[in-house]
Amino acid sequence: MLILLLAAIIAVILVVTQATSSAFCWNSTATTVAGRVGVSDDAANRLDRPFGVALDSSNALYISDQTNNRVQKWLAGASTGTTVAGQASAVAGTTSDSLDAPSGVLLDSSGNIYVADTNNNRVQYWLQGASSGTTIVGVTGSAGSGNNELTNPYGIARDPSSGTLYIADQSNHRVMSYIAGASSGTVVAGGNGLGTANTQLKYPVGIYFDASSNSLIIANTGANNIVRWALGASSWTLIAGSINGTRGSNATLLNYPVGVTMDPMGNTYVADRNNHRIQLFLAGQSIGMTIAGVTNATGTSSTLLNNPYSMVFDAQLNLYVADTYNHRIQKFMHC
Ligand SMILES: *[C@@H]1O[C@H](CO)[C@@H](O)[C@H](O)[C@H]1NC(C)=O
Ligand SMILES: *[C@@H]1O[C@H](CO)[C@@H](O)[C@H](O)[C@H]1NC(C)=O
Ligand SMILES: *[C@@H]1O[C@H](CO)[C@@H](O)[C@H](O)[C@H]1NC(C)=O
Ligand SMILES: *[C@@H]1O[C@H](CO)[C@@H](O)[C@H](O)[C@H]1NC(C)=O
Repeated sequence: MLILLLAAIIAVILVVTQATSSAFCWNSTATTVAGRVGVSDDAANRLDRPFGVALDSSNALYISDQTNNRVQKWLAGASTGTTVAGQASAVAGTTSDSLDAPSGVLLDSSGNIYVADTNNNRVQYWLQGASSGTTIVGVTGSAGSGNNELTNPYGIARDPSSGTLYIADQSNHRVMSYIAGASSGTVVAGGNGLGTANTQLKYPVGIYFDASSNSLIIANTGANNIVRWALGASSWTLIAGSINGTRGSNATLLNYPVGVTMDPMGNTYVADRNNHRIQLFLAGQSIGMTIAGVTNATGTSSTLLNNPYSMVFDAQLNLYVADTYNHRIQKFMHC
């Protein structure tokens, strides 16, 4: 009787373990889906320090090709990209048809592009197929901390139901919110100077809008942590990393986390840049697991990353990583 009971318990444990591990399983060997390792020129089949990645419904990749000052679109399976924002020639500029060191990129459901034009201190909106963009946030070229200004915007996120845009205004240590069509925004996170207190941010880079909790998930990069800032709240709560800014490379700590995203189950994924890995923190857990790359190891092989900046999932939970210093986008298949 006891033996039967034990056998039943063991069977249940095995089933649960298997279900958990298959839900959180990615092939640790990636394939390169854009760019080429070690080569960083401005040819159409190359990338130079890709920063942000977005996917449309056909799994075409939109990549902010930062040092080439352009956004490239790569159709699924394509071996070259086409320029959909900025100049294909990679020249930087302040005009409406140019970009200067773009970083965060996202798409709306019609395939129009929002891009953080970092060195121009603005966010540009490019209608699908347009040859120039319009400035929807910021004053071109001029950095500032007014409610209509930005200083080095990086991550952008959008609430698809309202069209409200959220911008990690990195050097102002705050996140701004812009209602669609508004010419100035409001501070929704930080804005209390550089620091590691829970009312402050420190060089925030990546952001993700979590509709289910009406909160922003922020890569608080300079503080080496990932925090949740509920809209309307005056402080953050810790999701991952240290509470006081300490960096590290064990399973709890992070080192200069740049990108953050969530899956539909509320688990958090972090591009842990200086540890050269992608970390997964299951909802409610502070101990992470490495799902791509190898902690503190850089390299050009298909299992290694070199300064990953961001990631995105397709509908099958396949993982695409901007392997920034390797000048390529790596795809890790969900298994
Ligand atoms: C993992 O991906 C690599 C590269 O695509 C492939 O060769 C290998 O068979 C895959 N392994 C598994 C277990 O699917
Ligand atoms: C910061 O927190 C870490 C644990 O996350 C701890 O080991 C460290 O001693 C703390 N440092 C300071 C200065 O409080
Ligand atoms: C990582 O290091 C910090 C600081 O020493 C410590 O507080 C934490 O428990 C460590 N995490 C793990 C999983 O060992
Ligand atoms: C990471 O690697 C660097 C270079 O190899 C080394 O100096 C450093 O001590 C390593 N850090 C950790 C936490 O292992």
